Amino acid sequence: MSTQPPSLGAHHGLPPVKLYTETVPTVRMWTDLLERYGPIAPAEIEPGATGWLVLGFEENRRVLTDTATFARDPGWWRELQDGTIGPESGLRALYSKRPSAVFCDGEEHQRYRKAILTAFAQLSEQQILHHVGEAAGLLIDAFCLHRKADLIAQFARQVPLTVLCRLLGLGPGDTAEVCAAMQTVWEAGPDAPAARQELEQLLIRFSQEKRRNPQNDIISGLIAAGMDDAEVCGQVTTLISAGDEPVTQLIGNTLRMLLTDRTTRGEFQSAVSMINETVNTSLWRDPPFAMVVGRYPTRDVTIGQYHVRRGDCLVLGYGAAHADLIRRGSKDMLGANRAHLAWGAGPHTCPEAGRQMALTIAETAVEKILQRLPDIQLAVDPDQLKPIPSMSIHGVVELPVVYKASAPEGARGGSQLWARPQSTMASVERQNPTRPPSRGGFLSWLLPTRQKP
Ligand code: HEM
Repeated sequence: MSTQPPSLGAHHGLPPVKLYTETVPTVRMWTDLLERYGPIAPAEIEPGATGWLVLGFEENRRVLTDTATFARDPGWWRELQDGTIGPESGLRALYSKRPSAVFCDGEEHQRYRKAILTAFAQLSEQQILHHVGEAAGLLIDAFCLHRKADLIAQFARQVPLTVLCRLLGLGPGDTAEVCAAMQTVWEAGPDAPAARQELEQLLIRFSQEKRRNPQNDIISGLIAAGMDDAEVCGQVTTLISAGDEPVTQLIGNTLRMLLTDRTTRGEFQSAVSMINETVNTSLWRDPPFAMVVGRYPTRDVTIGQYHVRRGDCLVLGYGAAHADLIRRGSKDMLGANRAHLAWGAGPHTCPEAGRQMALTIAETAVEKILQRLPDIQLAVDPDQLKPIPSMSIHGVVELPVVYKASAPEGARGGSQLWARPQSTMASVERQNPTRPPSRGGFLSWLLPTRQKP
């Protein structure tokens, strides 16, 4: 690789975009980047790790779909392989190759993706509806008498993981352990490599248990589809990473839209089809994943005005791609034809079952809030809502609301909630006001800071 021609990026004289700085992405910010750099910008992914941020809609689509030129397998990532990205790096903890659908191409990818689809196929929509209805109901019961709540910490952050863990077949204690380990990995600090090992050991243990005692859940489904324990661990880690955070933001962003946009709220309040439409609008306006690492050219290639080298890391810019469509006034973008990239594109696109699960969880959760707390109002001026300081995740830190007290529905059948402890970046700040929000490492910009239980 040392014989490769130098990247032309250096000759354009524009500084790399630092992806790890605390910048809140807005359509305006993406538009500025598009105007300054064109459809692709040189980037620094974490200090010392270089790459490219793909900004244009067509360029993102090309990178996602041209599988002959752009690989998903991080084995192609030069700086990860040559040690430029060191052993203590958050990037390494998160993006080193593992036996999972998101780290491979071709036949290997098809095998993992097929196993995930097979495991999903045995889940019914009724099952998902049941879990989300129950989780949402119990969460609302916990605050419906209080007349005020933070819908991010007390609701949006709780619902998806509760549902996901139940569908995976994990019990309360298991879920708490998985959450704690996963959180440390996400924080990408010095404890991340040990937490990654701990998480893998936990998931391998669950896989062994389910192998002995299979049930109607995703882990048993993956085993039935021929996955060994390490492969079960790889797919489950992917499902939790892929399924929890974006659905949290989708619920939060949709509720925020309904609470801040009176017209939307007035028109959409109770009609389920309108809630669906608001969720979809939220997806293209605020794609929960604004950026995704990575794709790796398998040969030197020109994108926009830049020459990108084989083995460079490309960061997909879904938020920028949508801003590109908006600024060009494209008709493709909006509502009905769902031409947005929020679900990705190409062979690694979010599986239909994952999308349906996300939409079912988000729509049901939002509907429950509107049904149970019909007079709900934002407790602060919309301008006071603090965006998550991350270029990668679109959402707000807190969503404080007020409403008239309403009676709890009551727990049915001894049900209990056992998702993650309630914490938000804002609560971290409150407890430790001197600590700046999210400076922990790579994932401090990729995901909001979480606390250990
Ligand atoms: C609003 C919620 C969601 C959004 C915005 C979303 C978005 C995405 C995107 C953009 C990708 C492609 C990443 C890439 O190209 O590298 C993806 C992949 C994936 N998503 Fe989703 N997702 C959501 C929910 C879910 C849920 C609930 C699940 C299942 C529990 C799920 C499972 C997956 C899987 C397994 C992949 C990897 C597919 C592959 O590599 O073949 N997603 N998702």
